[in-house]
Amino acid sequence: MATILSEFVGLVFVSGILMVLCMAEANLHYYDFVLQETNFTRLCSTKSMLTVNDSFPGPVIRAYKGDTVYVNVHNQGDYGVTIHWHGVKQPRNPWSDGPQYITQCPIEPRSNFTYEVILSIEEGTLWWHAHSNWTRASVHGAIVVYPTIGTTYPFP
Ligand SMILES: *[C@@H]1O[C@H](CO)[C@@H](O)[C@H](O)[C@H]1NC(C)=O
Ligand SMILES: *[C@@H]1O[C@H](CO)[C@@H](O)[C@H](O)[C@H]1NC(C)=O
Ligand SMILES: *[C@@H]1O[C@H](CO)[C@@H](O)[C@H](O)[C@H]1NC(C)=O
Ligand SMILES: *[C@@H]1O[C@H](CO)[C@@H](O)[C@H](O)[C@H]1NC(C)=O
Repeated sequence: MATILSEFVGLVFVSGILMVLCMAEANLHYYDFVLQETNFTRLCSTKSMLTVNDSFPGPVIRAYKGDTVYVNVHNQGDYGVTIHWHGVKQPRNPWSDGPQYITQCPIEPRSNFTYEVILSIEEGTLWWHAHSNWTRASVHGAIVVYPTIGTTYPFP
């Protein structure tokens, strides 16, 4: 009985330490975005447009405040393109912010680039979008940033 009890206490102690470690450490998330032309039919008319993973709007990125998201963008389209992490402050990574003609050369067709998106003070819903020509019209999606575990959003 005493052994079982001490094992149980030990288990609770170890899992408590693990939980604290997990909470203290910012998590890393990895996404692969495949940019490609996709046929979409709307109102009886079909047209080809650039999308991420055949999805319109594109995939949702979900992370917690303080996390870092790595997005490996594979450009299988016909033009160079960058992705901009709209509303995410990237002071440590100005070259990974994607506004074309300012900090980053376009990702050329048939090549890829991995963005490091550091969510430091951001909370709530932001968005990512392409940053060249008209591509943002079809290449965009949400970034949902949950509050750090144990806290709440600073708004209702
Ligand atoms: C996009 O497609 C690629 C290739 O099929 C896949 O590996 C990746 O997980 C997909 N990404 C998302 C965000 O669904
Ligand atoms: C889109 O449809 C056109 C016309 O049917 C076709 O030629 C083209 O290959 C299709 N594109 C894709 C990416 O499936
Ligand atoms: C391109 O993608 C490959 C395979 O996913 C990855 O190993 C490589 O690091 C990526 N290159 C860049 C520049 O992101
Ligand atoms: C911009 O997009 C239009 C329509 O898709 C295309 O004809 C044109 O070549 C593109 N321009 C550049 C600089 O990519």
